[in-house]
Parts: sequence; C-alpha cells; structure tokens
Amino acid sequence: MSLSSVGADFFVPWGAGSNAALVDARIGVALRERGAAGLVGLRSRADVLAAAHLLMPALRAHRDSDPDGLTVIRDTGQHAHRPGFAGLGHGALLAHTEGTQAPDPPRLILLACLHCGQAGGATVLVDDRAVLGELASLQPAAVTALMAPRAAYFGGAAGRLAPVLERLPTERWRIQLRQDGLAKFSPAVQPYLPALRAVIRRNTATLRLEPGQAVILDNHRVLHGRSSFTGDRLLLRALGEPCPALQLEAGFAPPPDLLSSAGSEAEAARL
Ligand SMILES: [Fe+2]
Repeated sequence: MSLSSVGADFFVPWGAGSNAALVDARIGVALRERGAAGLVGLRSRADVLAAAHLLMPALRAHRDSDPDGLTVIRDTGQHAHRPGFAGLGHGALLAHTEGTQAPDPPRLILLACLHCGQAGGATVLVDDRAVLGELASLQPAAVTALMAPRAAYFGGAAGRLAPVLERLPTERWRIQLRQDGLAKFSPAVQPYLPALRAVIRRNTATLRLEPGQAVILDNHRVLHGRSSFTGDRLLLRALGEPCPALQLEAGFAPPPDLLSSAGSEAEAARL
C-alpha cells in the first residue's frame, strides 16, 4: 500500500457506524501501513472536534489554535509574507513536517476541509518511507548526511538543530523537514538537497479535499503541503498524540529497499 496511489479506498466514512471501531480497524491499519488515512463525513467544527478527540485524546495547542485546540487554516489576508505564517496566506506550501521548532513534533495531524475555495488548494502528501528507500538506493551518502545531529536548523532565533532523518534504537525511522525560510541546512547536507527534493517530488501525491473530507497523517513519516489557491478555502487542523487503539509504534518501519550500504554509512554517521 502506498500513498502514491491515493484512490477511492483512501477515504473512510466517518459517522456511519461505530467510529471507535473504525479507529481500531481501518484508520489504524492505514496509518501503520501508509502513514495516512482519509475520512469523509466531517461536516462541521463539532464533527471535526469529536473525530480529533477520538483519534488524539489530548490535543496539542499551537500558536494559532483556538481554545478548543483546533486551528483555522484560511487566508487571513495579513500573514502571507511573514516567516512561519505562510499557512495563513493563499500561497503554495512546500512539503513539511508540522512543528519542527519543538524537539518532539506532534505525531498526528488532522486536516479537515469545511470550504475548498474556488481553485487550487490541493493537499500535498509525501511518504518519507518511500523517499528514504529511493534516496538510500540512489545516494546513500545523502542519507548519511541527513542523519547527522546538526543536519538542519529549524526555526528563527529560538530554533534548534536537528537531524532530518533519524534512525531510532528500534531500527525504525523518523523524519523532520521544512523547506521554507525557517530551515537552514549544514554544508554537508547542501550538496544533496537537489537530490532530496527530486525524490520528494517523485513520491508526492496530491488530492483536493472536498467539504466534509479530511486526512489524518503520521507527522513523523508523511510530509504535507498544499498548492496555492483562490477563494474562500477553510480547513480545520488538530495536532496531538495518537490514541492507543491506533497501535502506532514510534517511527516507521524501514523501507524494503533500504540498502545495507546505506545502513552502514548511516551507522558511521551516528557514531
Ligand atoms: Fe503544516
């Protein structure tokens, strides 16, 4: 199962039966196998909040979130050119991890569409399990560079150094990345950025959410972004940690085509 083939089976009907059973079954399986699931049937803010609480019992507050924990993502007409606020404009957003300023970015993101706008506004999804596999095959040295503890600096004055690719003690992996003006990369990483961006492009899926549709993403595996848009587009976003029923282990399983050579080089980088 891959995100590159987001089809009709991607969306799970929410509210048609036992939502708790859905969390146990289809949504948990989809998140574990491909890092994302779609929901359909979230028609109101109350619907979105109820789904968010079932999937993520404790929502994580964000700089822009409302008291109920949800963040309204729309073009405010005031934020487009402020670093770190591009989500509140109407421009394209390059694929990124949510919350890279924090040492522990939230594990899950729920993005629910209430209004889809006039044109554009496609949601961009990138499965980094596939990115890691392809990069390890084509440029294993890139994986090594991206694993360095100081591979990237995310954020402004209060930002932090971080690896882009991280191999956990369990041999599972985690990614964190942003590609806007609040990301800087080490000299060792910079030669590999074109290759990384090319692999990301090849593993990008896009879908245009309709009102009532939502995606739930594993933020430690799947990057998200959007294309530019016109009109009154309004999404609601929730961030948090997964409920136990989703059975998400930390990180994601290594891709099958991860070469042993990349693993060896990566091991050298970790020492
Ligand atoms: Fe985002």
